[in-house]
Amino acid sequence: MQQRHLIFIASLFTVISTTEINYFEAVANIPNVPDPVTIYDTLIILWANVTDCPPPSCKCFVQVNVTTYNDTYTVTFSSITPNIGSATVSDLEPDTLYSFSLTCIGTDGNATRLLRTDYGRPSVPRNITVTLVSKRLRISWLPPAVPNGPIHNYKLTKDRETISDEIPNNESSYDMTKDYVYGETDTFFFSACNINRKNETVCSNPNDAISATKINYFGNQMYEHFLLPPLMIFDVTMTLWTNVTDCLSSPCECSVRANMTGFNYTDCAVFSSDTTSIGSALIKDLESDTVYSLTLSCVGTDETVTRRIRTVYGRPSPPRNSTVTLVSKRFGISWLSPSVPNGPIHNYKLANGSKIISG
Ligand SMILES: *[C@@H]1O[C@H](CO)[C@@H](O)[C@H](O)[C@H]1NC(C)=O
Ligand SMILES: *[C@@H]1O[C@H](CO)[C@@H](O)[C@H](O)[C@H]1NC(C)=O
Ligand SMILES: *[C@@H]1O[C@H](CO)[C@@H](O)[C@H](O)[C@H]1NC(C)=O
Ligand SMILES: *[C@@H]1O[C@H](CO)[C@@H](O)[C@H](O)[C@H]1NC(C)=O
Ligand SMILES: *[C@@H]1O[C@H](CO)[C@@H](O)[C@H](O)[C@H]1NC(C)=O
Ligand SMILES: *[C@@H]1O[C@H](CO)[C@@H](O)[C@H](O)[C@H]1NC(C)=O
Ligand SMILES: *[C@@H]1O[C@H](CO)[C@@H](O)[C@H](O)[C@H]1NC(C)=O
Ligand SMILES: *[C@@H]1O[C@H](CO)[C@@H](O)[C@H](O)[C@H]1NC(C)=O
Ligand SMILES: *[C@@H]1O[C@H](CO)[C@@H](O)[C@H](O)[C@H]1NC(C)=O
Ligand SMILES: *[C@@H]1O[C@H](CO)[C@@H](O)[C@H](O)[C@H]1NC(C)=O
Ligand SMILES: *[C@@H]1O[C@H](CO)[C@@H](O)[C@H](O)[C@H]1NC(C)=O
Ligand SMILES: *[C@@H]1O[C@H](CO)[C@@H](O)[C@H](O)[C@H]1NC(C)=O
Repeated sequence: MQQRHLIFIASLFTVISTTEINYFEAVANIPNVPDPVTIYDTLIILWANVTDCPPPSCKCFVQVNVTTYNDTYTVTFSSITPNIGSATVSDLEPDTLYSFSLTCIGTDGNATRLLRTDYGRPSVPRNITVTLVSKRLRISWLPPAVPNGPIHNYKLTKDRETISDEIPNNESSYDMTKDYVYGETDTFFFSACNINRKNETVCSNPNDAISATKINYFGNQMYEHFLLPPLMIFDVTMTLWTNVTDCLSSPCECSVRANMTGFNYTDCAVFSSDTTSIGSALIKDLESDTVYSLTLSCVGTDETVTRRIRTVYGRPSPPRNSTVTLVSKRFGISWLSPSVPNGPIHNYKLANGSKIISG
């Protein structure tokens, strides 16, 4: 009888000293909370119900399996409901699986939960380019480097106006539905969006300093400015000037192609660093008095500007078959016209040394 009583005492002692973890979730089991799930993109709040803690109060800790740091998070117990506590774990990565373990003083066991953080804000779409394709702007891009979730859609706005917020996630270009007005400057914002598990839309931040999503697109002022004065058209060279604004690269990258048999002039447009919109191209080795077709193309638009220009008359080759004969005491000079006149021969000139006999 004595022995049985002792066993009873021992087992009662064990029961009252064992801290019980009743609940450990990222869901607040408090009444009247509209959205009790406390899982966010970089933060998770874990809720615990712990009973039978040794006096004076429960002491619990949450550990996270993040390799870069080793913090333990202390569970804070409320004074009103002393068995209910919470720990806020921050600085997590979006859309990432973590393991959370709750340990309490007074128990050897722990409660472990595997939880994935919510989708977060994507980084901006990469390599955004704008080109003009048969009078309409085309925006092309690559998906964000850090999507922070399965990209749901892309969104394009012009100034404050939404052009489309339902561009599917499998697309990589979008064609405007209206013709581009030449010379108009538009500011576009292009973002990638996720819809998180709370049904909230989170889009890449277009005002992000690193975004490069702010596109100032010019179109083609160069149409009006391809041939600026001074015109520098000579017999075998010409210099073309152009004013191209709002280029996608700085300085602008343009090239001029001349329809010369034999070779193409490319990469010959030079933009100065102080007047970055004004460029010139020197075209050499031309034939005088010849029509050339010269085409300017610039990076950022697939439209081109073409001008037909005739080089000026050049130096004729010498008259052919000049002969001098004595005709009744005077010299008579006869000739044939030059084989390469380089223009309509205007006149001939006869000189004795430096002395002009007839101009
Ligand atoms: C905590 O868990 C215990 C055991 O499951 C339960 O009886 C008690 O009502 C819970 N406390 C709260 C505040 O929910
Ligand atoms: C994390 O803590 C454990 C034990 O507390 C220790 O062995 C380990 O080296 C720590 N890791 C880092 C990255 O500090
Ligand atoms: C945490 O642990 C779980 C399960 O072991 C694992 O799947 C997950 O990748 C880990 N997370 C990190 C950030 O290490
Ligand atoms: C939780 O308990 C298991 C075994 O029950 C143990 O392997 C693990 O290390 C414990 N985790 C923590 C954080 O104490
Ligand atoms: C995207 O842009 C980067 C530099 O801005 C470049 O290195 C890369 O080749 C581009 N990718 C594509 C597919 O055009
Ligand atoms: C994207 O998906 C839709 C429907 O799933 C399909 O109609 C469309 O052709 C796809 N676009 C591309 C570029 O693959
Ligand atoms: C998500 O939000 C959209 C509109 O904001 C709504 O039409 C849809 O029913 C919502 N879905 C859920 C699961 O709440
Ligand atoms: C280039 O063209 C733009 C747009 O028409 C104009 O505002 C600017 O003054 C021009 N630059 C020069 C140096 O002519
Ligand atoms: C000049 O370039 C154009 C377009 O790139 C090409 O069609 C043409 O064959 C080239 N001509 C020569 C002579 O290389
Ligand atoms: C260049 O093209 C123009 C227009 O097509 C043509 O009239 C001219 O003869 C061409 N010039 C040369 C050198 O091919
Ligand atoms: C011009 O001179 C060349 C040789 O110098 C000769 O072959 C040719 O017949 C001459 N032409 C005339 C019309 O005399
Ligand atoms: C040419 O000049 C020389 C010396 O300057 C002179 O002697 C000669 O008479 C001149 N001939 C003619 C045809 O004018």
